[in-house]
Amino acid sequence: MKFKYVCHDCGREYVTDKIMYLCPECAAHQEKGTFMKGVLTVILDDEYIKSLKKKEHVTMYDFFPYEVPDRETYPVGNTPIVRPKRLIMKYGLENLVLKLDSQLPSGSFKDRASQLVAAQALHHKINKVCLASTGNAGAAMSCAGAAYGLDIILFVPETAPINKLMQSVLYGAHVVPVKGTYDDACLLSVEYSRLKGGINRNTAYNPMTIEGKKSISIELFEQLGRTCPDVIYVPTGDGCILGGVWKGFADLRQAGIIDKIPHIVCCQSEKSHAISQAFKTGKFLPMDNPTTIADSISVSAPENGRMAVYGIKDSEGWCVEVKDEDILSAQLELTREAGVFAEPAAACAFAGFKKDLDNIKQKFGEKVKATVLLTGTGFKDMAVFEGRVEVPKAIENNVEAVKNLPF
Ligand SMILES: Cc1ncc(COP(=O)(O)O)c(C=O)c1O
Repeated sequence: MKFKYVCHDCGREYVTDKIMYLCPECAAHQEKGTFMKGVLTVILDDEYIKSLKKKEHVTMYDFFPYEVPDRETYPVGNTPIVRPKRLIMKYGLENLVLKLDSQLPSGSFKDRASQLVAAQALHHKINKVCLASTGNAGAAMSCAGAAYGLDIILFVPETAPINKLMQSVLYGAHVVPVKGTYDDACLLSVEYSRLKGGINRNTAYNPMTIEGKKSISIELFEQLGRTCPDVIYVPTGDGCILGGVWKGFADLRQAGIIDKIPHIVCCQSEKSHAISQAFKTGKFLPMDNPTTIADSISVSAPENGRMAVYGIKDSEGWCVEVKDEDILSAQLELTREAGVFAEPAAACAFAGFKKDLDNIKQKFGEKVKATVLLTGTGFKDMAVFEGRVEVPKAIENNVEAVKNLPF
């Protein structure tokens, strides 16, 4: 498949078969204290992409720059959509849809990026992939590594939830916990790749992560009977998922398959809101000491912040900031009233949707088609339930105890 890289910031184009990360020009002029510059977008050959309009159905593979070998080795995609009956009745929105990316092989959306990075590694015959992660991207790449036989080197903040770290250890990755933040882990992983070779899969730094993540929009479009939702709620930290969601719809638009990108709503915690603030103020400033309980979206300087802000604007979207308490109660509500178990970062999108409910009803009416992306399973971080939910004590092993049960 023919493609070129285009710098999202300066528009320079790069036509090459080599692996590229950032636009060298913009990266060389990166100013301290501002979001990363020079993220590259993959642009597919225009004639090819327009030919896709003739197809009755499209899949993510039609839009990928690399062929994914042995797809069933690491089966990514086709996650279910849920029409949550009780929540639909509760909120009076008949077209509410939850997209369950928690059901991907490693339990989070990040498998979408890891699939394409694994394909990139296999295409270039490179066996080593290094990355930094808050936990889920690492688990996903480690899962892909186990499936395809790739060597994975993973830098994570030592505070990452144990379930996510353990998952990567179990998949066989070389896990390197760092005494520092996620942002520190990112810098070290780039140094590792520079010193020791292999591919670097850092989110947005490697443009294939955005390309892999765009698959969700193409899939959703087909699942919704070749239509787009009106509004899509995206939990956001680095802004790479959001950039991917935007890119998927942008590719469908470039192909002439859709005219308009749905409104993308960036959902962040008030305690980690760099992108939302950048959208509102126009200033790309990192946030000191982000502390949200939703660890996956706790980010100081978002790696894909600039593209995320562009994507929100291009889609005529907006941002919603929520409190950590609202994230946790949204998580319980999803579990108890929809049977959907999501980790806090994913529940942030549902909390954002709830906060935005009156707004979308006013803008689009009760028939508004709203999709909420649930990007990670609740099993990823069971520690958040400590002190909030208790497993009942054991009853005596006799029938009397059964008779005495209050339910
Ligand atoms: C479950 C989950 N949801 C949302 C996000 C946010 O994605 P991004 O950092 O690309 O904005 C992450 C990132 O790690 C995640 O793991």
